Amino acid sequence: MEIKLLEQAKKVLEKNWQDGFTIPCEGLYPFQWNWDSGFIALGWAHIDMEKAKSELRYLLSGQWSNGFLPHIIFHNESETYFPGPEVHAADLSPYSSEIKTSGITQPPVLGFVLEELFITSGNTELDFISELYDKVLLCHDYFYKYRDPEDEGLVYICHNWEAGTDNTPVWDDIWKNLDSPEYQLERRDTEHVDASTRPSNREYQHYIHLIELFKEWKYNDALIAEKCPFLIQDPLFNAMLIRSNESMIRLGTLLKKEDAVRQLKNWNEKAKKNYQTKLYDPELKTYIYFDLRADKPMKYVSSSSFSPLFAGIPSKEVATEMANRYFREGSFSGKNNFFLLCASFDPESEHFDPKRYWRGPVWINLNWILYRGFKRYGMEDLADQIKSDTLFLLKKHGFYEYFDPRRDIHQQSDAGYGGNNFSWSAALYIDLLKNKH
Ligand code: SER
Repeated sequence: MEIKLLEQAKKVLEKNWQDGFTIPCEGLYPFQWNWDSGFIALGWAHIDMEKAKSELRYLLSGQWSNGFLPHIIFHNESETYFPGPEVHAADLSPYSSEIKTSGITQPPVLGFVLEELFITSGNTELDFISELYDKVLLCHDYFYKYRDPEDEGLVYICHNWEAGTDNTPVWDDIWKNLDSPEYQLERRDTEHVDASTRPSNREYQHYIHLIELFKEWKYNDALIAEKCPFLIQDPLFNAMLIRSNESMIRLGTLLKKEDAVRQLKNWNEKAKKNYQTKLYDPELKTYIYFDLRADKPMKYVSSSSFSPLFAGIPSKEVATEMANRYFREGSFSGKNNFFLLCASFDPESEHFDPKRYWRGPVWINLNWILYRGFKRYGMEDLADQIKSDTLFLLKKHGFYEYFDPRRDIHQQSDAGYGGNNFSWSAALYIDLLKNKH
């Protein structure tokens, strides 16, 4: 069974390979996506290191001259996705790349992806790491220069698509107060998959409204920081950056890049300190979001709340308390283990929706992040549970984009949602099986 599924996972990656990079999913996502490519490269590294390297080279070919790394790189043309390059109009920025891209970014995973590749190669790929190192460093530099207005070491996101967790209920209050025009949008996503598992039309109008504002401001970072109605310090985004810094410190040490290592250490020292104080909620006993525009914390618990485990941010005590409250006793696994790990939004919340994208379903990349996080803190029981829940879902349904977190439902119905043959689900399956750490 395992061998057959492994072969299928390889086939998914091969089918989605486009002569240099991998699309996340045929039809639904027909271009190169930023954090998707990072996770996809982890899978390729086990079966074809040259493809893993090419994936990252192609991604970084869309980097802007100020270091910014866009969330979509439009190497190819396609009519099956909205919004395409003409909607993003990234060339309004004086820094944009020759290749067409979007003008927003995604969680910065490349630092730790580079280190994973290096380890998977048996420490043989140092030349490749050296080739990409400065580009990834420049991307981190961009964040601290332009996205940290209060010099806290915590960077902001200015669009929900930057979070990766596109339609999490965390943003609902922001949308309520945003008077976006009622655009007639030609959505393509709902032609590929069931609309009840995707964001609503009203949400899409807000998403596009933010892009329209960025275009009006020519993607100028200072104007975005001053005026954007969506300005959030997100726990997942910042945990990815801190964890990537950590990998870049180790790789930079190997490459003897002393200035870079010093800089990365300074960033991380400040970032970790402020993450622990500003993004930790002692009442909820977990990590939450901060709305920089409204200057207030956003008290919602999602799978992103636990991502700092992966970056080694919580103390052992805080981590244990969090794990007990949400996994060993509490809401994310539910009484009698009612939920599979890990729902993307608090199953006890009235906003929880087990089918709709990031409002409840299980996502394989977050499970991978939390698996590594539990391991890092020696919580073997939870690491085993999240790994076996992940493998169960993939074996039962195949490589879907996301899955229903209710354990019972998997007895009777199809509970894999969104795109099928989804690249990072396949790639991370390969990594979970093959990786020794
Ligand atoms: N995830 C977004 C979408 O659904 C894009 O980043 O299109």
